[in-house]
Amino acid sequence: MNADVHDLCGRPIIVGAGAAGLMTALRLAPEPVVLLTKAPLGVESSSVLAQGGLAASLGADDSPELHVADTLAAGDGLCDEAVVRRVVEAAPHAIDALRRLGLALDCAPDGTPLLGLEAAHSRRRIVHAAGDATGRELVRALVAAVRRMPSITVLEGMDVRRLLVEDGGIVGVVAVGNAGAVALASDRVVLATGGVGGLFADTTNPLGSFGQGLSLAARAGAALADLEFVQFHPTALDTPQRPMSLVSEAVRGEGAVLVDGHGRRFLADTPGAELAPRDVVARAVWKELAAGRQVFLDARQCLGHRFAARFPRIAQLCREAGIDPAVEPIPVRPAVHYHMGGVAVDGDGRSSVPGLWACGEVASNGLHGANRLASNSLTEAVVSAAWVAKSVAAVSPRGNRRRLPAIVPTQPDPAPVRPIVSKALGIVRDGEALRTAVAALLPLAESCDAASDPAAVALMMAVAAFERDESRGSHCRSDFTQRNRLACRSRLTLGEAMKTASAIAEPATPFARSA
Ligand code: SIN
Repeated sequence: MNADVHDLCGRPIIVGAGAAGLMTALRLAPEPVVLLTKAPLGVESSSVLAQGGLAASLGADDSPELHVADTLAAGDGLCDEAVVRRVVEAAPHAIDALRRLGLALDCAPDGTPLLGLEAAHSRRRIVHAAGDATGRELVRALVAAVRRMPSITVLEGMDVRRLLVEDGGIVGVVAVGNAGAVALASDRVVLATGGVGGLFADTTNPLGSFGQGLSLAARAGAALADLEFVQFHPTALDTPQRPMSLVSEAVRGEGAVLVDGHGRRFLADTPGAELAPRDVVARAVWKELAAGRQVFLDARQCLGHRFAARFPRIAQLCREAGIDPAVEPIPVRPAVHYHMGGVAVDGDGRSSVPGLWACGEVASNGLHGANRLASNSLTEAVVSAAWVAKSVAAVSPRGNRRRLPAIVPTQPDPAPVRPIVSKALGIVRDGEALRTAVAALLPLAESCDAASDPAAVALMMAVAAFERDESRGSHCRSDFTQRNRLACRSRLTLGEAMKTASAIAEPATPFARSA
């Protein structure tokens, strides 16, 4: 790193360049900010891969009230209604703002956006772009806007390894780039680092998304919330490729049905059928697979040869896998797609650590509850970025140079953690498997090796899942099949998780103490 980087000290630092990070940087303009991204801008983020779109109540038959009701129903009792209302009411204006920034939505000839339907939405309310490449188009527009904005300094190839904390508040970040490690001083850091799919074997997230934002926040002392709630998308394309390609819920919105190898529609009698909430559909698909049956998404009747025109990206992904969705059913299986849990934040993205904000998937503000309503997340990223930016801008900077800590953590590697997490934190969980996972993760989290940070995140997730002795939303326990009477969100610091983990792990290692 060179002297130029140190000239940036004191500016707000945004970590991550998906929709949430890009939008936060834009909303902070004209205040000078630094945007740190591991990958080149616009290349690797869950936002880029998003197919469906952004949910907003724009239809003549729709209203924010209906969108709120659908979000609360999907969230299975755990949404924060005030947050839901605020996000949903802001959504239509946010879509207008994105169009002004250059987002080219798919529109009717009169210029009104076409609206798609996805699971658990009672109305068509998903705006989309380039058919099924909404994320790519959104990120393209935002990257172009960021490149035009002189107040935003983008540093690519920067892997943030630690947040620096003094007197309980953030004072900077330690990042590693091509030229080595650098400490950047700032008492305003926004995490926008995405989710945790890379901790699992089967995911639609970029494999580099393995919860780094959560480990940064947790090691800085921040509380994390609702970590046990992991959303599995029911229809990832079932090929050996990782990350898995998504087959958007919007395909089911157009009438595609889920069938087994004999063409039996196994969701026909479920309320909502293929468009039931995502957790319900994912469990039904999982059950079929667990029984040894293959599962397919059949779009031949509803779309047939129109498939490629409406879903060009998915058609291409299928073609690459040797499947023609116009004339054959698509093999699918569930894959980790979204994390409802995250850094516990208030409505303006403020975490429990002064100077630290979080925005987008890495944050947990209560919008999604136990199960996110489809396409609410890009909307949330865009809408809440404005509130985060306002809150960051309201804090006056102190900022001076920081020295590097004596030890810069090594590049994190989630590989040793993946099999443990995939086994214990899948679609259906049970106490014994979670206890075994906690016992295996605890020493990894306590170590100083490359698996330590991913293991710390996984450990917190496993502890939260063990402690939630009920089935709710995406969290399904085979040993606690009912919902508890009282719905409550969960909240944990790393210190609390470590302590609880030791107690949980103890019965699993009865001989360790006497040895
Ligand atoms: C999809 O297109 O099915 C994904 C939409 C989402 O996860 O919000």
